[in-house]
Amino acid sequence: MNGFKPIFVDINFENLSMNIDQVLKKISKKTLAVFMTHSQGFNGLNEKLIKNLKRKKIHLIEDVCESHGAKFANKKLGTFGLISNFSFYYAHHLTTIEGGMICTNNKRVYELSRILRSHGMLRESGNKSFENKIKNKYRNLSPQFIFLYPSFNFRNTEIGAVIGLNQLKQLNKNNSIRSKNFKLFLKLIDGKKYWKNFDIEGNSNYAFPIILRTKNIKKRDLFEKKLKEKGIEFRRGNAGGGNQLRQPYLKKFSKSLNLKKYKNVDHIHFFGYYIGNYPSLTNDKIRKICKILNFISYD
Ligand SMILES: Cc1ncc(COP(=O)(O)O)c(C=O)c1O
Repeated sequence: MNGFKPIFVDINFENLSMNIDQVLKKISKKTLAVFMTHSQGFNGLNEKLIKNLKRKKIHLIEDVCESHGAKFANKKLGTFGLISNFSFYYAHHLTTIEGGMICTNNKRVYELSRILRSHGMLRESGNKSFENKIKNKYRNLSPQFIFLYPSFNFRNTEIGAVIGLNQLKQLNKNNSIRSKNFKLFLKLIDGKKYWKNFDIEGNSNYAFPIILRTKNIKKRDLFEKKLKEKGIEFRRGNAGGGNQLRQPYLKKFSKSLNLKKYKNVDHIHFFGYYIGNYPSLTNDKIRKICKILNFISYD
């Protein structure tokens, strides 16, 4: 939407996030920023990426929508990048029903974000001396209505804030239950049928990722049928529609790419799933779910 050219890399099965070696290989003189999505509660960062970006003066942007409270090197995700974003849509660790949050330590980004969340209006910047400077520059505009940049309305409501602040109080407690659930799930699930070598250090998973080892569509369909029969809700493609390079909105950029070079994300697209991991989920239910999953035959 902003006219930048996105460059794509494959993901790792271990954390469902971008493959950092491929990121480093694809960095060029034109690279402005690396946009790291910490997928499904996993940390996507490592020391090598952070060091390289610092040295090359390339910005890091962290999408923490799916990993509230997760950590890298004992520090919360979303505190490493110039900008990080969080979603409070109701499927996430904490919700304001709709809404989200941008975090930054940079004053200019902060002021600009305030402007952009409100139709690009100058009066939202929170910086009076900047506002006065712009008002003087555009004397024939009404000072209350100076639209500095093209934007949308992303404003949240006070009611959303009340809900969110109250949910925030539960976040750590809920995440520690989710982590225990996740470990039990990994202990019980059959590694011959499903991938289970996840990198769980600092994780905060609101879902259990299920990656089938089979590459057979018919067997996958059987898996889906079984889950539906047993009333286990799932999403194929893990989060957000699987391989984005297959999504129509990216056609302009993806049509010249060879999808075979993105084989992990393509496997997830067709054979990757997630099911819910929520604080009130009981151990008995996790045992029952794993029993059902392990009983499905892929032979
Ligand atoms: C990684 C990631 N980024 C962005 C979003 C979008 O968040 P929202 O629905 O609050 O706009 C989501 C939503 O699920 C997400 O998982």
